[in-house]
Amino acid sequence: MASSSSSTSRSTPLWLHCAVPAACLATTYLLYGSKTKLLTWVYDRVAKSGRNPLPGKAYLTGNFAPVDDELFSEDLPVVEGKLPPGLDGCYVRAGPNPFFKPVAGYHWFDGDGMLHAVRIRNGRVSYCNRYVDTERLRQERAAGRPLFPRLGDLVGQRGLTLMLLNRIAQALGVVRIQHGSGTANTALVYHSGRLLALNEGDLPYGVRVGCSGLIETLGRLRFSKAWSKSFTAHPKIDPVNGELLFIGYRFDANPYVSAGVMDEYGNLVRHWGVELPYPVMMHDLAVTEHYVVLLHLPLCFDPQAMVKDRTVPFKLRTDLPSRIGLLRREQPSCPAGGAEVTWLELPGPGAMAFHVATAWEDAAGDVKVFACQMDELNMDLDAADFAKEAAHLTEYTLSPSAGTASLRRLSQVAGDFPVVHPGKATRSAKWAWMATLEPSGSVPSFTGIAKLDLTPNKPGKDACVSRITYPPGCFGGEAVFVPRASTLADPRAAKRCSEDDGWLMVYVYDTNADVSYMNLYDARTMSAKPVTSVRMPRRVPYGFHGTWVSEYQMKAQVMWV
Ligand SMILES: [Fe+2]
Repeated sequence: MASSSSSTSRSTPLWLHCAVPAACLATTYLLYGSKTKLLTWVYDRVAKSGRNPLPGKAYLTGNFAPVDDELFSEDLPVVEGKLPPGLDGCYVRAGPNPFFKPVAGYHWFDGDGMLHAVRIRNGRVSYCNRYVDTERLRQERAAGRPLFPRLGDLVGQRGLTLMLLNRIAQALGVVRIQHGSGTANTALVYHSGRLLALNEGDLPYGVRVGCSGLIETLGRLRFSKAWSKSFTAHPKIDPVNGELLFIGYRFDANPYVSAGVMDEYGNLVRHWGVELPYPVMMHDLAVTEHYVVLLHLPLCFDPQAMVKDRTVPFKLRTDLPSRIGLLRREQPSCPAGGAEVTWLELPGPGAMAFHVATAWEDAAGDVKVFACQMDELNMDLDAADFAKEAAHLTEYTLSPSAGTASLRRLSQVAGDFPVVHPGKATRSAKWAWMATLEPSGSVPSFTGIAKLDLTPNKPGKDACVSRITYPPGCFGGEAVFVPRASTLADPRAAKRCSEDDGWLMVYVYDTNADVSYMNLYDARTMSAKPVTSVRMPRRVPYGFHGTWVSEYQMKAQVMWV
């Protein structure tokens, strides 16, 4: 057969090889009538070929599945406990919620950003969920179909073809990326009167929570043109001077990472370009009093592996080191590159930490970073195994004077999404909390909350001092810490509050009843009985990160970005 095929090929004139596809494209163009329809038709044919079942389907089912409505519901029932006096404000959490059904495959990171907000005011509670009205979503809604590339599409040879088709679509103006392509699906931060919805692939989107609890999108952040287009989902606020510190990264050219500082009014005051030997996915950063801490961990962009291993184009290269960079915050701007960074290598194989709990400098000038580290990671979600890939709280000790770096695992409890008291960020803290993770299965199941002691413990002593475990069949996610002091009008009384005096706020989904709750837990006692449990009008899908917007912050929100 091979011989026959080869013979046929030799006998076919070269012009025919070119003419047939050209004729097909021309016919399709005539049939479909526009470059948009032609390109999307070709894209669909490529994307759908041989993809059954849909990769990533687990993240479209159960409580990972998107909700298809946008609700505003008032006077929600408090079904357990009662609301703490003075706790007025809004809990807002971001998550992926694909507006269109994925075509080729789905990755949990892909979905359009949807915000779920619980407004508490004068003892009354309302719920609102809204898509962030991103440029990407606007274009896709207008086209009536997905247009932008998605991580779940980028698998194998087909992924390479789809990447190429997307480039053609951009060149022909079918997809316009001049105003960004981000989903705003990852996290929120409140800074200088602006509530920002974040995704590391784009600039933030300004959103606003109205007094009633309704959410609206103000628009994509108008930011200094000197800054590149990407902006981390995990900027850090220095509670001492109000600065916001952030990074952005890229894969196409050095400097592969940039870091920046906004003053308390939201002005970009300094920024630096940092060259790296190879680009990586840099999801989070750490900040201390004097340093921006860059986590150059070897989760590498690898299109060759995408084709060769038929997987997504990101691979944890454990053969490469985990490098930590210390960049002094006061050094002058150098956006084009050349920032002075002290690089230190952690011992052992390269590993990944998506999330940092906090960091600070100790009395000796050493930098302590507390991160949830995973020693193995498969970014192809269908192949994930949380028995191997669960993260654990790990302490990195970095000595810029001695040029050394070390690490130690602080807890055997599997977990991620760590948080601390916002007033303790960038300075020494005693407590952190993280969502505990079932160390098994192929999708993440967050079973409760762990309270972690970050102060030096005896060797071998686990940093986890107490845990809340949800009832059987109930799962949550990140729990946001809300200090009780933030609700007290008397500053002297507020000062007497201990670091762990506050509440942990989290959406919990009951798989048995298909019902979601917004629960508040006492962060000090860690009682498994909620202080307050509010029944949601319908399930709230699992998502990523949230924030508490206090009543004061709500009133200080600006009307534009
Ligand atoms: Fe994150």
